[in-house]
Amino acid sequence: MRELRPVGIYATGSYVPERVLTNADLEKMVDTSDEWIVTRTGIRERRLASADQASSDLAYEAAVKALTKANISAQELDMIIVATVTPDMMFPSTACLLQDRLGASKAAALDVSAACTGFIYGIATASQFIANGLYRYVLVVGVETLSKITDYTDRNTCVLFGDGAGAALLGPVPQGSGFQAFELGAEGSGGPLLSLPAGGSRIPASTDSVANRLHYISMSGSEVFKFAVRVMNSSTEAVLEKAGVSREELDLLVPHQANLRIIDAAIKRFGLSEEKVVVNLDRYGNMSSASIPVALDEALEAGRVKEGDHVVLVGFGGGLTWGATLLKWTFQRA
Ligand code: UT7
Repeated sequence: MRELRPVGIYATGSYVPERVLTNADLEKMVDTSDEWIVTRTGIRERRLASADQASSDLAYEAAVKALTKANISAQELDMIIVATVTPDMMFPSTACLLQDRLGASKAAALDVSAACTGFIYGIATASQFIANGLYRYVLVVGVETLSKITDYTDRNTCVLFGDGAGAALLGPVPQGSGFQAFELGAEGSGGPLLSLPAGGSRIPASTDSVANRLHYISMSGSEVFKFAVRVMNSSTEAVLEKAGVSREELDLLVPHQANLRIIDAAIKRFGLSEEKVVVNLDRYGNMSSASIPVALDEALEAGRVKEGDHVVLVGFGGGLTWGATLLKWTFQRA
């Protein structure tokens, strides 16, 4: 058996649409207030795709930035993985649409469906192909246009979500660096707590399904909240333990951006100072699979990651699913 080679992230890129939806805008649409949204979630505004922007359009912008920063051409890509619950259409996959748009002609392409954990599932999958030597460069994109499946008459959900895309280019790195541990999990029994009921083979699109508003996100907020706090803590702990890294040695936590109160629970649990945690939900809301890669890209751009830093990425969401990874960050390549 071949020895596994270390894998890391060479570069990231992100894109959010121009249109801003503020809490003040939402006050005019549903019975809510800026005060409720800020104190219960931490969100102040979010970005919305335009009518003619689909997920692959956002993914393309983020992908081009990641490839440019990595100085790797689309033709060199071996594989493209897109994590999304808002694909352009049921099929072809958004990864195939992106592959064509980028001109990544030798890349295999597939979508991953793990909701807000999608980016973590995506990089976990991508890293296996590189580690075993089958592929060298894999592009992973987390992208969502949640505004297209959000019911803007439902105050329980419409204040939470936003649109965006984040991309990461993965490749081989020197021994001792890159991904040190992964933790992935699912609790399928909790699926109904967060779902988009219609449009698949269980409830195909019909005039009834549209009239009953079944093509929108449905969520039991407080149940998902309890689950989120539990698995964010347990999966972060799991990767620290697997990698043999103590809480004190953790340099940066990049959590899924669902609710500031969920992130605060982790800050408390791990005794982290604020500069060790990346938060951008105040500006973008919950972008599902795009939240983590956009937050990571912004942290890198702001110079918050140094050579040798221990960085944890952790996500949770629909499925129900969760996932975390710990990287010993390197800017070097192998
Ligand atoms: O990314 C995938 C994972 N998703 C998550 O992690 C989301 C997790 N859940 C949450 O972040 C929170 O549960 C929410 C932000 C969704 C809700 O916060 P909460 O503190 O759990 O509130 P709640 O659902 O228990 O609702 C409390 C009250 C209710 O009123 P009553 O029944 O007590 O009279 C809601 O109707 O707040 C009401 N409410 C609102 N009021 C004003 C719910 N949404 C709103 C709103 N504006 N937008």
